[in-house]
Amino acid sequence: SKQIILAKTAGFCFGVDRAVNLVYELVGEGKKVCTLGPIIHNAQLVADLESKGVKIIDDISQAPQGYTVVVRTHGVEKSVLDELETKGIDYVNATCPFVTKIHNIVKKQDENTVVLIAGDKNHPEVLGIKSYCKGDSYVFKNEEELTEIIQKHKIAQKNDVICVAQTTFSLNEQKKCKKIFKKLCTNCKIFDTICNATSDRQNEAEELSKNSDAMIVVGGRHSSNTCKLRDTGEANCPTFLIETADELASLDLSKYNVIGVTAGASTPSVIIKEVLKSMSEEIKEKEVETTSAVTEEVV
Ligand code: F3S
Repeated sequence: SKQIILAKTAGFCFGVDRAVNLVYELVGEGKKVCTLGPIIHNAQLVADLESKGVKIIDDISQAPQGYTVVVRTHGVEKSVLDELETKGIDYVNATCPFVTKIHNIVKKQDENTVVLIAGDKNHPEVLGIKSYCKGDSYVFKNEEELTEIIQKHKIAQKNDVICVAQTTFSLNEQKKCKKIFKKLCTNCKIFDTICNATSDRQNEAEELSKNSDAMIVVGGRHSSNTCKLRDTGEANCPTFLIETADELASLDLSKYNVIGVTAGASTPSVIIKEVLKSMSEEIKEKEVETTSAVTEEVV
């Protein structure tokens, strides 16, 4: 018989779920809301929020009078929060608590402590973390860059060195970097700040794809975590990336018995539900077809 298995970790993580609910709550309270950058990279959800009057601004100077500004999960640079405060702009901080935890780690260090940040130097989350560092801070994205920084800035000779990671940094890359620290810079205190939401979703996708005949990954084609889920699935079984339930129509799932379903970090639960509903409807139809074909033969 046919089986559809939905991954427990499909879709929004804790932080995004919290931020999105916060925006809907504010709208529900009758507040005018603008978000500092899109709250989430999902076109349907952004459109739904826009239909409820939620505006997206790139910079707080664009905040319309009387609007509540929502700071998204990545967090922002310290100067942005300072500006919101000094200008007396009403705001709600939806920075993910896991990101705030990193801010607090680096805030606690004094100006003599060197902070090494594993991550993407242009990512808003990293810019935010960097802004809370009092002393020197350096960003690296892999073991090569880390090695270069350690040698160039003579990090091994410093008294106080710590390392934190962007919440979405690769666990695999972190492992390699820890080896570099062991070899070149044993004085560094390493904080494990990678968020498990991403790796848990990845691991579950891997497990599920090994036990399925096919995988459906629901999410944006431009979302990097969604594409990673697809790649993980593809290594083990035929895997299809779809953005909405409508796209199911172009797929022939009839030859698969066990179909695993997961979804990227910015896929709203309504879309996942629609996909599951369409899939089970389609499977039912196919089964009816098969049964009637057999009956005809017998007759
Ligand atoms: Fe999500 Fe927060 Fe982790 S936004 S991915 S739970 S750091």
